[in-house]
Amino acid sequence: MQTIISPSILAADFTNLISDISEIEDVKDLWLHLDVMDGHFVPNLTFGIPVIKQIKKITNIPLDVHLMVTNPEFHFEALKDSEIENITYHFEINCDHHAMIKKYRNNYKSIGLSVKPSTDLESIPLDLLKEIDLLLVMSVEPGFGGQSFMPNALDKIDYLNKLKKENNLKLQIQVDGGINQDTAKLCLDKGAHNLVAGSYIFGKAKDQYKTQIETLR
Ligand code: DX5
Ligand code: ZN
Repeated sequence: MQTIISPSILAADFTNLISDISEIEDVKDLWLHLDVMDGHFVPNLTFGIPVIKQIKKITNIPLDVHLMVTNPEFHFEALKDSEIENITYHFEINCDHHAMIKKYRNNYKSIGLSVKPSTDLESIPLDLLKEIDLLLVMSVEPGFGGQSFMPNALDKIDYLNKLKKENNLKLQIQVDGGINQDTAKLCLDKGAHNLVAGSYIFGKAKDQYKTQIETLR
């Protein structure tokens, strides 16, 4: 499986998203990472459903929605016909995860669960890991771009890969936060499949976006 890179538009130019997104439109094995923050689950506030629907109209890049919200079900419901490639929400919120995933199983190609740096993977029941398509390991505290990579994410990737082998789990491992050329290599060496990067890509000049993406692989 080719490594997927998922550039986060959190670091892009919100006053000219078309221009930033079209710069990477034809890159292969690419997702577009959309960080939805509600000001409750995380202190920061970004954008929501109307903006995601507008973005869907201006690009063919598969959309990767990362919900940092206390009420993900509202977003799952509202986006269920929007042909989202992957939608991820946080394990830490108070919800019946089995019921939630079962309810939307047929509306989404891929459903992910995410864990904050302080959440132990051991606290996720194995039968839940069997139901999801992606596990997003946060390598920074969710809420802000431009933070430094927290190395405990590497142990989590390691642990997940062992669990995958032992239990024949199909989920892909995504890492998000502080990804650059060096931390990307550490994650890939441990067996990550999918890397989210904001500042490392959109923090550079437009003509460098593609090279930045390739150096991460
Ligand atoms: C943080 C977001 C990340 C963020 C990553 O809460 O989930 O996706 O955009 O930004 P960088 O790559 O700058 O750490
Ligand atoms: Zn994210």
